[in-house]
Amino acid sequence: MSTMAALAPAPVDLASAGGSGPLPPALVVQALVAGYAPGVDILRGIGLEVRRGEIVTVLGPNGAGKSTLIKTIAGLVPVRGGQVLLYGQNLVGVAAHRMVSRGLAYVPQTNNIFARMSIEENLQMGACARDDHAGVAGDMARMYDLFPRLRERCRQAAGTLSGGERQMVAVARALMARPTMLMLDEPSAGLSPKLVGVVFAKVREVRDLGVTMLIVEQNAKAALAISDRGYVLAEGREQVSGNAHDLLANPEVGALYLGVRRELS
Ligand SMILES: Nc1ncnc2c1ncn2[C@@H]1O[C@H](COP(=O)(O)OP(=O)(O)O)[C@@H](O)[C@H]1O
Ligand SMILES: [Mg+2]
Repeated sequence: MSTMAALAPAPVDLASAGGSGPLPPALVVQALVAGYAPGVDILRGIGLEVRRGEIVTVLGPNGAGKSTLIKTIAGLVPVRGGQVLLYGQNLVGVAAHRMVSRGLAYVPQTNNIFARMSIEENLQMGACARDDHAGVAGDMARMYDLFPRLRERCRQAAGTLSGGERQMVAVARALMARPTMLMLDEPSAGLSPKLVGVVFAKVREVRDLGVTMLIVEQNAKAALAISDRGYVLAEGREQVSGNAHDLLANPEVGALYLGVRRELS
């Protein structure tokens, strides 16, 4: 893909530098334990893997711990046990603000834009750690190519946009840091069915630009439709995993976790 190199730089693989073995996966989570209140673990030994170039979705009902998982990987919730490896490098204990320099960006479920700033200013904020001004300008143009709606409204305050447009600002802002891996927390929450389709189609386009994606979602069907693989999270662990097509077709998964019980009966 010709635009691929343009958006995402090749991941820095210190672990594999000089080695001849296969490259480590983008993300490996092993036996991860984390929580908020002392003595109460929300993640209770979850494991998952995201290979380079994949879209992987973590599904689960409200309260399952999806946001906690993504926040823990992003360094925002303390790890009590287990491992997180990004391109084979330990992430546990790395400060949240250092994640971008490792290639990892994260779009939170809520409050993920600067509402009073214009779209243009939001994108500039995403690039605030960069000093390659020409590169930033080029990436800004690429974001407007990817999301033409944002170009039309670039001077408009982000808080005045529709839900779908705000989600696009949030994703574009995260991409302005040039991550090689992007985590999205419920990108379809609160969107109309039509906009859900638009946002997920964009997720696919972003992956095709060379960015590995980990998504957490309640909207199982729409997310799996654009994913390579998925995991179902319940009680703090991954309960079922598999390729997205198989998960969609798995009646046990559907009945237990995906909220499609009515359609099955
Ligand atoms: N900041 C927090 N402090 C304490 N408990 C929290 C916090 N955030 C989430 N929780 C608890 O962690 C559990 C999982 O929440 P969350 O990860 O937000 O689930 P999901 O994203 O799957 O809906 C819930 O029981 C929730 O009440
Ligand atoms: Mg959540």
